[in-house]
Amino acid sequence: MADLACVNGELMAPEQATVPIYDRGFLFGDSVYEVCRIYDGRCWLEADHLVRLKRSLKELEFPPYDLDRLVARIYRTIRASYVKEGLVYVQVTRGVAPRTHAFPNPPVEPTEVIIVRPYDDASSAALRETGVPVVTRPDIRWKRCDIKTTNLLGNVLANESAHREGAYEAVLIDADGKVTEATHTSLLWVRDGRIEGTPEGPEILIGMTRHLTQRLAKKVGIPFVEAQVTLPELLAADEAFLVGTSTEVMPVATVDGKSIGAGKPGPITRRLQQAYKDELAAWLAEGASYESKKAPASVS
Ligand SMILES: Cc1ncc(COP(=O)(O)O)c(C=O)c1O
Repeated sequence: MADLACVNGELMAPEQATVPIYDRGFLFGDSVYEVCRIYDGRCWLEADHLVRLKRSLKELEFPPYDLDRLVARIYRTIRASYVKEGLVYVQVTRGVAPRTHAFPNPPVEPTEVIIVRPYDDASSAALRETGVPVVTRPDIRWKRCDIKTTNLLGNVLANESAHREGAYEAVLIDADGKVTEATHTSLLWVRDGRIEGTPEGPEILIGMTRHLTQRLAKKVGIPFVEAQVTLPELLAADEAFLVGTSTEVMPVATVDGKSIGAGKPGPITRRLQQAYKDELAAWLAEGASYESKKAPASVS
């Protein structure tokens, strides 16, 4: 069981895969991506991730793209890798063409990369019991953070700087002093028994785990509302937590060294962690019937 790539439909070891120097993903970051968690060989929240991928492609005016073929290739790669617990990374670039800023005209075939790799959740699972420290950093990203593009340098720099301070994540603060999200996770917090998150819009990525959290909150009867907060307001919250594909529901213990609530996982965060586990267990129990629907026998 090792990492396996599928480049434009061809399976290969990731170390053997190369990118042409004229690929627009390489030259301009002109590409979109998705990451799905694989549990028991199946893609969790697959439909949601595909909807977001489709939206990203549309927002960037990519030419028509075959998502059914992509799904077939994803499952072919998962099967060939024998990965049961893992992550699948999908990247689609605008393709290979001599370097000019304007789109290639006529359009060229997109480059499609799928990478499946095993994922060991043990260290994250331990952190979910204690909560994690986060630090704040200025949000220097571009103005279309709702599109899941590989233009991630603003996220990368903030994340690196947080890691150098021993923090798990950086929470980003925009030019008006408002909290947006974290570098690779959505940030949610609790005030007066309600879960709150930054309003969806161009300032944040539409998080699939955040959407799931909204559904779970509804299920267990906890109100979820959109709200904009400043750092002092976040620090005064009763609880805070990060949500994301591999992070799942991660309690925030401290922000910039200051405790949030009691500085440990709060009761609402705990309820959501349990609701997440229950939802996943129910989905896993669907098992074989789901698998057979999702895996066409022949793929291109
Ligand atoms: C900036 C940002 N926010 C939030 C998320 C969480 O999104 P999801 O729950 O779909 O993984 C990610 C995931 O990559 C991200 O990069």
